[in-house]
Amino acid sequence: MDRSPRLLDHLRGKARARGVEDRVRTVQADLDAAWPDLGTVELVWASASLHHLTDPDPDRGLREIFESLRPGGLLAVVEMAGFPRFLPDDVGRGRPGLEARCHEARAEAHAESLPDLGSDWGPRLSRAGFTVEVERPITIDLRPPLPEPTARYAQASLRMLRSRIAGKLSPDDLATLDHLLDSGGPDGVVRRDDLTVRTERTLWAARRP
Ligand SMILES: C[S@@+](CC[C@H](N)C(=O)[O-])C[C@H]1O[C@@H](n2cnc3c(N)ncnc32)[C@H](O)[C@@H]1O
Repeated sequence: MDRSPRLLDHLRGKARARGVEDRVRTVQADLDAAWPDLGTVELVWASASLHHLTDPDPDRGLREIFESLRPGGLLAVVEMAGFPRFLPDDVGRGRPGLEARCHEARAEAHAESLPDLGSDWGPRLSRAGFTVEVERPITIDLRPPLPEPTARYAQASLRMLRSRIAGKLSPDDLATLDHLLDSGGPDGVVRRDDLTVRTERTLWAARRP
């Protein structure tokens, strides 16, 4: 389930490529509005999505999931505390610490628009009636040399970040970020050889009693 036709199309494409198309059905729905009737399900996997539910808050979503699961059914929640880090502290241009300043600006913007990002989901799951069976932090710390898609992932992620924080960055930082994003030279994100992927996620597995 997702409200984005583009994301669902991407998912169906992946399923086709792996030959499991006939086992995948996508449902387009805005989960801040009416929840679709899913019947009774065994497993719900919510990846990097619950913090997006804002109307009125993700607790309503947890209750809807609880009601959809059969007794004994499992909900897996994966959430991230923040945004992945890709760049070294000194990118070789502008003032060092650019990415850290971008993340500060992002945290400020998200405090208003996505207040549940980085929430502690354990107590919220318990309040919704679930028994929390697993809480597992996952540290992702990938260092160079990294495969080629890393550059595209970093570029797409940093472009999205830029769109959210452009108004909060200094003109110098914005110019440096734009150079990194647009340059085909060796210091541009697509060609750098020092990219990393560093982030923290947490998995909760919770059962409907
Ligand atoms: C960070 S992405 C995660 C996508 C995917 N679950 C994954 O793990 O790769 C967040 C997703 O939540 C979806 N989303 C945000 N608000 C939503 C809503 N109100 N109803 C349904 N989907 C929503 C977005 O369209 C986006 O695909």
